[in-house]
Amino acid sequence: MKFLKYALCGLFLLAAISLNAQQLNWNEVEPGIWKAVAGKPEAFDLLKAGGAVPYHAGLAEMGETKFPLQQADISAKIIDGKTYLSFPLEKEEQLYGFGLNFQTVHQRGKILTLHVDNYAGKDDGHTHCPTPFYVSSKGYGVFINCARYIKVYAGTAVMRDSKTPAKVQDRNLDKNWVSKPYSDNVEMLVPAEGAEIYVFGGPTAMDAVRRYNLLNGGGCLPPRWGLGFTQRMQRLTDANGVAEEARAFEDKGYPLDFIGLEPGWQSKSYPCTFEWDKTRFPEPKALVQDMLKKGIRINLWTNPYISPEAPIYKNILPYTGTFTVWNGAVADISMPEARKIFFGQLGKDKVDIGVSGYKMDEVDGGDVYLWPDVAVFPSGHSAEQMRQTYGVMMQRYITELYHDKNQRTYGLVRASNGGGSRLPYVIYNDYYNHQDFITALINSGFAGVLWTPEVRASKTAEEWLRRFQSNIFSPMAMINAWASGTKPWTFPEVAELVKQLANLRMQMMPYWYSEFAKYHFQGIPPFRAMNLEPGFQGIEVAKDVAPKKKVNLEENPYEEASQKEIKDQYMAGENILVAPMFTGQTTRTVILPKGKWYDFYTGKLAGDGQVITVTPGLDKIPVYVKDGGIIPMMPAMLHAPKAGDKVDIEVRYYGDKPGVYRLYDDDGETFNYEKGEYSFRDIKVEKVNGQLKGSISNAAAGKPNTVGKVTFKMMTE
Ligand code: GAL
Repeated sequence: MKFLKYALCGLFLLAAISLNAQQLNWNEVEPGIWKAVAGKPEAFDLLKAGGAVPYHAGLAEMGETKFPLQQADISAKIIDGKTYLSFPLEKEEQLYGFGLNFQTVHQRGKILTLHVDNYAGKDDGHTHCPTPFYVSSKGYGVFINCARYIKVYAGTAVMRDSKTPAKVQDRNLDKNWVSKPYSDNVEMLVPAEGAEIYVFGGPTAMDAVRRYNLLNGGGCLPPRWGLGFTQRMQRLTDANGVAEEARAFEDKGYPLDFIGLEPGWQSKSYPCTFEWDKTRFPEPKALVQDMLKKGIRINLWTNPYISPEAPIYKNILPYTGTFTVWNGAVADISMPEARKIFFGQLGKDKVDIGVSGYKMDEVDGGDVYLWPDVAVFPSGHSAEQMRQTYGVMMQRYITELYHDKNQRTYGLVRASNGGGSRLPYVIYNDYYNHQDFITALINSGFAGVLWTPEVRASKTAEEWLRRFQSNIFSPMAMINAWASGTKPWTFPEVAELVKQLANLRMQMMPYWYSEFAKYHFQGIPPFRAMNLEPGFQGIEVAKDVAPKKKVNLEENPYEEASQKEIKDQYMAGENILVAPMFTGQTTRTVILPKGKWYDFYTGKLAGDGQVITVTPGLDKIPVYVKDGGIIPMMPAMLHAPKAGDKVDIEVRYYGDKPGVYRLYDDDGETFNYEKGEYSFRDIKVEKVNGQLKGSISNAAAGKPNTVGKVTFKMMTE
């Protein structure tokens, strides 16, 4: 009798749970992107917070593809006010993404809580940008559009009713017993009564990433000057210090496009007044304008916490949360009333007088100082939702200030999330592990964001140089001297090499700018993992789950490489592979994907689909170019060319395959490209009668054309 009672109870419970299981209807919302709605999604989500509008033209250009998974294998249930999501996972499948991780690229086998936070040295989901987006080596992607702390079991949970049950083993006697039996699913727990689910088709992992970025509106297109060199000054510097800094760069011949002012530009900080300090900066407008005349822009640090002494404090108070940060009020910037006051203040005497952008600090976390999850905000959005979106909203609304002036900006931010790809900001943090900075750069391409491995201070000249060498192959070439007061020439023994690197950064501006145009128009992340390279796709094997294959390195050196987690080399744009060197290292291995690769500096053949060992010396890091690769370069200028300036181009060509490169051009400063004011020109190198010949197509009539004289340099003899 008792048994019957329990059995009935059990059946009832199961029925209740399956009642909660929901049929998901997949709607193709853009070519190759499907959306399903589980339960009742919240009105405030990541895409809305970021103001993301799909870039239809880019998506249409990618064309149709088929739904990449078995729809019946994806399930959603709403239980106890939460959404339970389940996705299938095959044996030979590796997963990437789940935000800006610092130590791992392979995510299969992880349990994560996706939570905006200050990175604390562990890839557990707490990071500056925990985008709920993952990509599979099988060539598809999944995004959960929800501003909550989502728990993820990425191939760790074992279902009782699995279609591919793992063998039960006896630990007593079976030597093959494993503590983590095979799991064939990705499970997510979304603490909300529903969520939008997006699935991105392939066929390649890169296609899925591109579709994700294009759903977000396409990647950002920084102004040209944003891709030059930037120096952030010691925090208490004053107007004279800024003028001196600019002079020193000029006198010594180091390029400089923008100077960052740290907290001391404000009369008070932590919490902030958002007003110039009158002693250190008596005439900010004159300073900003003077600098502009020299071709140097000013970027301002701030965090968003409002001091009781800030002029906006009284007015904004009704639109702030119930908890403070460093005793400063936290504006509910999801409300138009708060935005008007807050961003009005960031515009006034700052954007208005010619300041070029902001660095928005401390919007990520550290629970010890941030608002707690029990804070209440007047909009009714929970503290959790605000935490997940504050960085994205700050980026969005500051960008709007600039958009209103038809002036592009490029800045820094310490938190982002889904919905942020189109916003022109680069993430940074206080963590300073060089290796992990490179892994973050790799993962940024899976998270729809940009990341800078900034250089701050170093113990030795070697470290300074090594950090600098990878920093110039990143979205923002920067020294952040807010505490150290370092300059590019701080270590005299490597100052000349550092200058050469800064010059190389400037010379490569036409390449960087064209690669960012691909981010914007095609969704291709400019800095990304090797796993997105064609030579790598479809053959990657999840190391821990698939049976270890014996590989014959003589026969196929590439095969082993394809199983390895690659955390220390990356692609910088279409044609360049960068393999950083770290302090103390004199030699390293580099995995060259299929096809021939050439030394960036000499043009010599380096290898073809193989693992090479190199000893590059202190003066450079290994950088390689694809066969047929074209790198458009310009003369090393001290500042980025101004709108409309004509610049000569030196086209460098590597290898012997016919090469085509699409050079992007526009005014470099305004948003006129949104109205079609841009051009792509085809640079070609091919063999004519056995001789390499280069050509460049004309800019379309009436479209921007900043290209001066074009010369070709065939790098490979
Ligand atoms: C930190 C930030 C640093 C610097 C500093 C100034 O939070 O990460 O880059 O801006 O604040 O106080």
